[in-house]
Amino acid sequence: MKKTLSLLLVLVMAVSLFAGCAGGDDGKTIIGFTIYKYDDNFMSFVRRAIEKNEDQVDELLMNDSQNDQAKQNEQVDVMIEKGADSLAINLVDPQAASTIIQKAKDAEIPVVFFNKEPSAEDLNSYDQCWYVGTTSSEAGIIQGELIRDAWKAHPEWDTNGDGVLQYVLLKGEPGHPDAEARTKFAISTVVDAGIKVEELELQTAMWDSAKAKDLMDAWLSKHGEGIEFVVANNDGMALGAIASLQGNGYFEGDLFMPVVGVDAIPDALSKIEEGSMVGTVLNDATNQGQATFDLAKNVAEGKDPLEGTSWVLQDKAVRVAYVAVNIDNIEFGKKAYE
Ligand code: GAL
Ligand code: CA
Repeated sequence: MKKTLSLLLVLVMAVSLFAGCAGGDDGKTIIGFTIYKYDDNFMSFVRRAIEKNEDQVDELLMNDSQNDQAKQNEQVDVMIEKGADSLAINLVDPQAASTIIQKAKDAEIPVVFFNKEPSAEDLNSYDQCWYVGTTSSEAGIIQGELIRDAWKAHPEWDTNGDGVLQYVLLKGEPGHPDAEARTKFAISTVVDAGIKVEELELQTAMWDSAKAKDLMDAWLSKHGEGIEFVVANNDGMALGAIASLQGNGYFEGDLFMPVVGVDAIPDALSKIEEGSMVGTVLNDATNQGQATFDLAKNVAEGKDPLEGTSWVLQDKAVRVAYVAVNIDNIEFGKKAYE
């Protein structure tokens, strides 16, 4: 009798312990994700990398914030009501981190931001808060090196022969740390290599192909062959520029335009193979999605954010490396997006 009683006690203790470490009080692991908009080329690959892990948790709540911060704030409220044990947030507006952090604090749950980096001040305002992304400047530096090397290898690209690289730049969302740093460092890296540059145009196309095509159409009718290089903050916009260039007779016969992007999405890799894109910078969607999921799951279950993983945290952030991709290592780029 005594034996059965103590056995029962051990069982009860074990069960309650298990429930205690599984996050929440129901013993289930629920993680709430937002993507700033599903209709973003690169983010659709990050989303795929996250959703692949669906069967690792009891519930994976996925939300399309449709580029609307107010909508995202509401989605966060709903996920908290549904009992989310942690949040993984791809902000619409990088400035809105403090609002999300306040909600997480009130609900006493951790939050992992990804892709759009909050300020260090916001990250440090809550001990249960982390970031998964990249070092934004790195993509700019690598893109600048691609431009530098290609320009030096092709003196004929200086079509007006003035020794100056005349470029147009398609910028991502203004205020987005990636857009700002890529713009700055791509050009400064070229200039630091001793190449003279002239900026003919710089405007935002909000990471978007269609918007980039419209801008490029306008720039081509204004500058014509005066443009010698197209620098795009991401591949989506590079692809839009290429569509415009193709519509204007480029990449047939002698008419050529060097175009570079960032992300290494499969459509851009095809353009590199076709010869209508000089290079891109791999933004590792697979590993960023996986790291975000891993951290969000661990903290949802009350574990150390890195438990059972090989990710490295530096000042509350996991930063996945960027890699240059051109025709020489195109297979490597393809593998990353398989
Ligand atoms: C960047 C990426 C862009 C866009 C943006 C969204 O890292 O290069 O293509 O997806 O994130 O925040
Ligand atoms: Ca020139």
